[in-house]
Amino acid sequence: MKALAFGAALALSCAAYGQDVAKEIQRYRQMVAEGSPAELFELEGEELWKKPQGPKNVSLQRCDLGEGPGVLKAAYAHLPRYFKDADRVMDLESRLLHCMSTLQGRSREEATARVFGSADRPSEFELLSIYIAGQSRGVKIEPGLSQPKEKASYELGRALYFHRVGAWDFSCASCHGDEGKRIRMQELPVLYKPEAARPVIATWPAYRVSTSQLVTLQWRMNDCYRQMRTGPGNKR
Ligand code: HEC
Repeated sequence: MKALAFGAALALSCAAYGQDVAKEIQRYRQMVAEGSPAELFELEGEELWKKPQGPKNVSLQRCDLGEGPGVLKAAYAHLPRYFKDADRVMDLESRLLHCMSTLQGRSREEATARVFGSADRPSEFELLSIYIAGQSRGVKIEPGLSQPKEKASYELGRALYFHRVGAWDFSCASCHGDEGKRIRMQELPVLYKPEAARPVIATWPAYRVSTSQLVTLQWRMNDCYRQMRTGPGNKR
């Protein structure tokens, strides 16, 4: 009986400890959000958005991210969405690639040669992403869900979340499926629940303090797929 009580007390204090750490991490993230190097990256992203590039030597300023050519306000918050000119659903990165190819005349190989950057040198996609996401601050996240292809993408995403793949038979839900799961103190949000996903998704792209690196949601997913042991892993 005594041992049981002790065990229960230990479990309780561990839970309390975990909560404290989670609170501290939260406070730390808040501090970083208030004054982080991300602002410098946003400026670099703006420069890239306006810089003439590619065989056609034009900037991306006429790129239509869904709110009209060149309109950045709220564009990120409404992605992914259906684009008629491409007849498919695109997220920010695939839409940027579309504009790099159609407006600037760049090849897919050249434009995607360096998708993920390093701590001291973020990639073009990363810098553009943080600049563009910055123009959606305070805007409600509402990806497209009305078009048939948007609905189909949503359903496919939901299926993929629970679909087990790879040598270890992992799905997203294997790690992001139970409340309170952690890997090395990092909380693993139960992403198929809106109340858990909302506060998390709104914080991307993110500045990662541990590695001083700017990372996008695309990077995050890629890294999770790497952890699931699917395919070649990070392209750097
Ligand atoms: C092997 C375990 C594992 C699997 C499987 C996994 N993830 Fe993750 N995921 C992690 C870890 C670890 C983190 C980092 C948590 C942190 O840094 O706070 C993470 C973080 C995330 C985040 C960011 C959460 C945040 O707090 O900002 C998203 C989004 C995400 N994963 C999506 C996915 C998706 C989608 C899949 C399936 C394709 C997936 N993950 C599969 C381990 C996993």
